[in-house]
Amino acid sequence: MERAFSAPSGNPSPVVLGIETSCDDTAAAVVVRGRLASSVVAAQDVHRRYGGVVPELASRDHQRLVLPVVGDALEKAGVALRDLTTVAVTYGPGLAGSLLVGLSFAKALAWARSLDLVGVNHLEGHLFSLFIEEPHPPLPFLCLVVSGGHTQLVVVDEDFRYRTIGRTRDDAAGEAFDKVGKLLGLPYPAGPHVDRLAAGGDPSALPFPRTHLPDLDFSFSGIKTSVLYHVRDRAAAGAPPLDDAGLADLCASFQAAVVSMLVRAVDRALTRVPVRAIGVAGGVSANSGLRTALRELAAKRKLGLYIPRPAWCTDNAAMIAVAGYHRAVAGHLSKLTLTAEPALAL
Ligand code: KG4
Ligand code: ZN
Repeated sequence: MERAFSAPSGNPSPVVLGIETSCDDTAAAVVVRGRLASSVVAAQDVHRRYGGVVPELASRDHQRLVLPVVGDALEKAGVALRDLTTVAVTYGPGLAGSLLVGLSFAKALAWARSLDLVGVNHLEGHLFSLFIEEPHPPLPFLCLVVSGGHTQLVVVDEDFRYRTIGRTRDDAAGEAFDKVGKLLGLPYPAGPHVDRLAAGGDPSALPFPRTHLPDLDFSFSGIKTSVLYHVRDRAAAGAPPLDDAGLADLCASFQAAVVSMLVRAVDRALTRVPVRAIGVAGGVSANSGLRTALRELAAKRKLGLYIPRPAWCTDNAAMIAVAGYHRAVAGHLSKLTLTAEPALAL
C-alpha cells in the first residue's frame, strides 16, 4: 500500500485495530503493515421495526457487541492483543452515544496496553474506503461522499488534504432514499430496496423535479416532498394502492432524479477543479443507477472512476483501520483526551 500524508515520521509498520461505532453498525477490522487482515461488521437489527435508527438503542447494542466484534476481528486476522501497536477509532461525526461507546473502548484499550491512539473522522474513513484495495485513485481526485448522513463533494489533493466544494443543504442522499422508502412501506434502510425495485421500472414514468443549485451544493427536500404529494394525491383521489409495476416506476423515477442531481454536480465540479480521477464512497455508492451514470460521466470526461466494492461502501471498520494505518505511519496520533465530536466536519 502506498503511503498517504507527507513526511512519514511515525511507526513504519503499525498493526492497527480499527473500530467504528458512529451509527448503527458495530464494526472492527485489523490492518497488518498496510494490508487488511480482517473486517467484521455486526449490523444492528433492533432498529428495523422503528423504520430508522433509535440512538439510545444503537448505543446499548454497541455496548453489547463491541467486545465480541473486536474479538472476532482479531481472531480472523490471527492477531493477538499483544501484537497490536495502534488502535484507530471513529470519533465523529455521528450519534453522540454511539461514538462514545467505540471511543471509550478504544481509549481504554490504548491506555491499558500502551497502544498508539488514532482518532479518525468518519468521512475521511469513507474516502479511505477507496484505499482498502488496489487499484487506488491517483491524486488529486474528486470524491462524491454519499451516505445516510452525508452528501459531500470533496477534492483530495496530492498531500491528502481535503477540500469540500459542495454539500447538501438539507437531507443526505441516503436519507432521501430511506424516507421515500419508508413512505412506500419498504423496510429500513430502504436504499437497497428502492434500487432493486427501480431496476424493473421506467425512470421517465413520473416527472419528479430536479433541484440544481447555482453552486455545487445539493438539496433533496424538493424531490422528497414531490414523492410525498404524489402518494398523498393518489390516495385522496381514491386510486387503488400502487401495484408492483407502479411501485417500480415510482422508485425508478425517484432514483433517476436523485442520480441526475448528484451526477450533474459532479460534472460541474469537474469543470472547476483539475483532477485525475473520480471517486465515490458511502452507502449510496452501492446504488446501481448512480454507478452506471458515473461510469458514463467518467467515460465522457476520460477519467478513471473508482468505486469501492459494496462491502466497503456502507459503514465498516476496514476503512477506519486503513485511514488509521496511514495516520499512524505519518505520526498523526491522538491524545487520550480525545472526545466524541458528533458534528465533526471534514
Ligand atoms: O455509509 P452508510 O452505511 O452509513 C452512513 O454513514 O450514513 O450509508 C447508509 C445509507 C442508507 O441511507 C442506505 O439506504 C443507503 O446508504 N444505501 C443505498 C444503497 N445501499 C445503501 N442507497 C441507494 N441505493 C443503494 N443500493
Ligand atoms: Zn458512513
